[in-house]
Amino acid sequence: MRIFHGSFVSRLLCLFVSLCVISLVYVYVVNEQKLSGFRRTTYRTYRITHKNVTKTDHDLLPTQLERESCVPMQQVLFLKTHKTGSSTMANIFFRYGDSRNLTFVLGPGTLLGWPNKFRIAFPLRFFSKAPNILCSHARFNKQPMNWLFPKETSKYVTILRNPVDNFESVFNFAHLGKSFGLGDNLDSLEKFLTKELPFNQLQHAGKIKGGVMSYLARNPMLFDLGLSFKYYQNLTAVNEYIQFLDNEF
Ligand SMILES: *[C@@H]1O[C@H](CO)[C@@H](O)[C@H](O)[C@H]1NC(C)=O
Ligand SMILES: *[C@@H]1O[C@H](CO)[C@@H](O)[C@H](O)[C@H]1NC(C)=O
Ligand SMILES: *[C@@H]1O[C@H](CO)[C@@H](O)[C@H](O)[C@H]1NC(C)=O
Repeated sequence: MRIFHGSFVSRLLCLFVSLCVISLVYVYVVNEQKLSGFRRTTYRTYRITHKNVTKTDHDLLPTQLERESCVPMQQVLFLKTHKTGSSTMANIFFRYGDSRNLTFVLGPGTLLGWPNKFRIAFPLRFFSKAPNILCSHARFNKQPMNWLFPKETSKYVTILRNPVDNFESVFNFAHLGKSFGLGDNLDSLEKFLTKELPFNQLQHAGKIKGGVMSYLARNPMLFDLGLSFKYYQNLTAVNEYIQFLDNEF
């Protein structure tokens, strides 16, 4: 009886150990596939559907591990530019933040002090928490924005559009033809471009033509991104500013 009992237990033990070994081998093999094989397959599919993806692009794609360890950013500054689709994006940010009880930097209306450069005093007061998202119209200003959205913990996002398409859209949206006495018709953009209004007149357009939208009469995207009018004619300054923005976003 003892012998039978003993051999039964050892058989059970043997079976158990074998099962363990098999499970371990299985888990190991599956993991290996996940880390290498499966990933490669995904990339191969990607390459087939996007024929122009080069080897360099392939290296840039996130690895499986990176994708698994991806965590949402807690702070996002979305710098809105006019007529680039930024309101659509802002809507997505608002819905995302709202569904997760995140804190927004909000102004009394849709603007956050625009066309003035952003200042801490512009938003309505927010209590207790650091803000999570700014996605209302605010003109870029590094210092106060970095203070609210520290570079280490925040993501800075904006949208750039083909400047020609952008200008055409801004011109119609802001009724710039009317502001400059060129009528509000289909040909007012052409009139504007051929009339060569003096630079000074454009510079003060926002003040003298009524309606702040006239500030967008030149370089609308750079205006939103904070470049001062006095540098608009200075190619060196413009290039330096673009470099600067490249580091900020
Ligand atoms: C893909 O590459 C081909 C040939 O090099 C080129 O003609 C085509 O414009 C490229 N398409 C895109 C979307 O870049
Ligand atoms: C957001 O806040 C509301 C009210 O306090 C709560 O019922 C809800 O569960 C919260 N949602 C999330 C995603 O935390
Ligand atoms: C143009 O910008 C550069 C760099 O900001 C500056 O050094 C230079 O003095 C400016 N030139 C003029 C004519 O304002």
